[in-house]
Amino acid sequence: MKIHIINGPNLNLLGKREPEIYGYQSFQEYVDELQQKYNDIEISYFQSNSEGELVSELQESDDNVEGMVINAAAYTHTSIAIADAVRAISTPVVEVHISNVFQREPFRHHSYIAPHCLGSISGFGLKVYDLAIQSLI
Ligand code: DQA
Repeated sequence: MKIHIINGPNLNLLGKREPEIYGYQSFQEYVDELQQKYNDIEISYFQSNSEGELVSELQESDDNVEGMVINAAAYTHTSIAIADAVRAISTPVVEVHISNVFQREPFRHHSYIAPHCLGSISGFGLKVYDLAIQSLI
């Protein structure tokens, strides 16, 4: 089984960015741990700060993997283009957020993407990616 993780803007800064919210671990380090835990699954990872690149990545990964995990970061709350791409592809997608977006500013309470996903997980730190993988399995 192949699972592709897609991370949106500013998530390249995990470990350094607002660590009291997002934690102290870099994402590459966490992906390495996930890969060790799920050694019978191929886990790939893509990050971009650009909306169009995230749309292209969703389109291009469709048919190549059995499941995707997306954290569209701030684009979650603004991007109809990413929502349309998730809706357009046939691969199941799980939405994740590291922080509990419902405990934060009201503009973070709405997701354009969630309605087109298998499910949405937020608020458990980096563990949300692990929970998403378990859901896809
Ligand atoms: C986030 C929550 C978003 O509101 C925010 O813009 C992010 C990260 C999270 O993982 O908690 O960049 O998606």
